[in-house]
Amino acid sequence: MPDIYDLEQIRAFWTGQAKMHGQAAAASWSDVRVMEMEVREISKYLSDHDRVLDVGCANGFSTVQFARQRQIRIRGLDYIPEMIAEAHRRLDALSTHLRGTVEFAQGDITSLEEPDGAYDRVVTIRVLINLRNWDLQLQALRECARVLKPGGTLLVSEATVQGWRRLNAFRREWGLTDIPVPPFNEYLDEDKLSKHLPNELRLAKIVNFASSYYVATRVLKPLLAKALGNGIDPADPNMEWNRWCAELPPWGDYGTQKLFVFERC
Ligand SMILES: C[S@@+](CC[C@H](N)C(=O)[O-])C[C@H]1O[C@@H](n2cnc3c(N)ncnc32)[C@H](O)[C@@H]1O
Repeated sequence: MPDIYDLEQIRAFWTGQAKMHGQAAAASWSDVRVMEMEVREISKYLSDHDRVLDVGCANGFSTVQFARQRQIRIRGLDYIPEMIAEAHRRLDALSTHLRGTVEFAQGDITSLEEPDGAYDRVVTIRVLINLRNWDLQLQALRECARVLKPGGTLLVSEATVQGWRRLNAFRREWGLTDIPVPPFNEYLDEDKLSKHLPNELRLAKIVNFASSYYVATRVLKPLLAKALGNGIDPADPNMEWNRWCAELPPWGDYGTQKLFVFERC
């Protein structure tokens, strides 16, 4: 496989993830603890009766969690038909009440078919990083802004180059090698996100919700595993260590993954 995937290879990657993992969280990411943290953090910005759009929802794992947290109406979109088929299967297993509040459809974040100003909140979780360059990421941000009501909120949980660099600098101090950027990802540039935004968006807040978790699981955990030589897999998110680290207050700026809260002007 090449070092950097083009858009077709990225599409093929996500189709493969849907086929391999079905409804499991792993279709979206191996680190389910960060996925739970994302839902917990984003839910703080959702209110009962909101109309919410979750773009790049994969198999709907997080979309349904949002619907369980608040009395909202939520629509999940993904451009991979196999992901949406899994999301529909997930819906079939839900209670009649939840089924009435969640829907899924195919859609591409760079050209949404949703009407203007239809949503109170739009969510993207690890989706913009699948677009190959800033121009496409900006186009996607514009589309998300377009479908938001004025005064609505865009909640963007994505990996950034700056967060990734700071984490790797921390690792290097302790003799750990750099964590590479996956070949299907283009991490966001925080400077561009804050200074080159579409006119209709204003950056209200950056939340480093996963900073402590990243230090504990990407620096401390591999060091402990190496020192003890006990065969522990530092990448296993299902250890009690990870569950406990996910409860830590977020100190510092070492999380690759951050939440950007934008207001629609
Ligand atoms: C890392 S998964 C994130 C899934 C989900 N948001 C979550 O919280 O777990 C990225 C998803 O974005 C989707 N995606 C990538 N590019 C997209 C695009 N241009 N339009 C819509 N979805 C896209 C992929 O198919 C994949 O399901």
